[in-house]
Amino acid sequence: MIINNKQIKQSLIKKLVFDIRAKKELRNVDSEIVRSEIVKFLKQSPKTVAFLATNRTLKQFERAEDYAVVIKHVRSVLRKSYGMFVVDASQRGNILERMRSLSDTDAHTEMLRTHESTKERMAIYPELYEKIFKITGKPKSILDLGCGMNPFSYPFLKAHPSYYASDISKEDCNLINSYFKKINITGEAIPIDLREIDKGNILMFFPKTDVCFLFKVLDTIETTGHKLAEKLVNSINSDFIVASFSTKTLSKEDMRHPYRGWVELMCKRLNFGCILIEFDSEIFYVISKKSEFISAFKEKENLIYADKKSSKR
Ligand SMILES: C[S@@+](CC[C@H](N)C(=O)[O-])C[C@H]1O[C@@H](n2cnc3c(N)ncnc32)[C@H](O)[C@@H]1O
Repeated sequence: MIINNKQIKQSLIKKLVFDIRAKKELRNVDSEIVRSEIVKFLKQSPKTVAFLATNRTLKQFERAEDYAVVIKHVRSVLRKSYGMFVVDASQRGNILERMRSLSDTDAHTEMLRTHESTKERMAIYPELYEKIFKITGKPKSILDLGCGMNPFSYPFLKAHPSYYASDISKEDCNLINSYFKKINITGEAIPIDLREIDKGNILMFFPKTDVCFLFKVLDTIETTGHKLAEKLVNSINSDFIVASFSTKTLSKEDMRHPYRGWVELMCKRLNFGCILIEFDSEIFYVISKKSEFISAFKEKENLIYADKKSSKR
């Protein structure tokens, strides 16, 4: 592989990928993603590239400081977007094997507990979906982007929509496809890196759906600004988009400013309707391109006051 005009051996890149994925919490991250993060880092680190292009054995590289720097940096990037959400992925295959049907609450609960976000949401799922569908109506089809283990909350939907899902992790998508097949859910999970929305419409593989979930994913894919989020929201072919955000910091403290004012501003600018659903540790913006529908719903439910309150945030 050539980086900054220097040749780096494929076997060395392969070893880096292998060593980075050796950590339990990163085992499910696709090798291609690890490889692309390594290349991204190396393109900005001429000194490390110059070292990795020298003629040494893999063992000699492994002991060098520059090698450790690559491992440390790429692991830290991957942990931020992927690893820190995984509680225990090692049991997922076994749990799915034991799962008999949609009414197997124990197995579904166990699976939801293997991911930080779904584990935390366990207590609110029934009320959450009831509140969302009160606005959107019971969906016949759902798209779940950056889905993690959320498709396993299917029994809480209390409806039987077709379910399309996607995550950056190929392993997670494989598991979800096996689940859909086993439980007879119409749908498919496709691995997609949502950051690629910058390069074109990566969502074209999915049909139009009634509702799209973007649970705790916009904060994950974007570190600065909200351009990617806006592109994504504009590209999604769904009547409603439900974007959620944590109200807690990484150390589980309450955020001082939990509301994402930029979502409300974006909706105003694009003439989309937006309703906020609040829970203690997570807030959900139900967004619709049919702004008149949202206005009518707010009027019917007397939510005009809530709107005024939120515009002060
Ligand atoms: C905080 S978790 C939320 C998971 C799920 N939406 C939920 O709330 O239960 C973030 C998810 O986004 C996925 N992810 C991270 N970076 C991504 C990217 N660039 N493209 C697609 N998915 C990504 C992770 O694998 C992880 O499952």
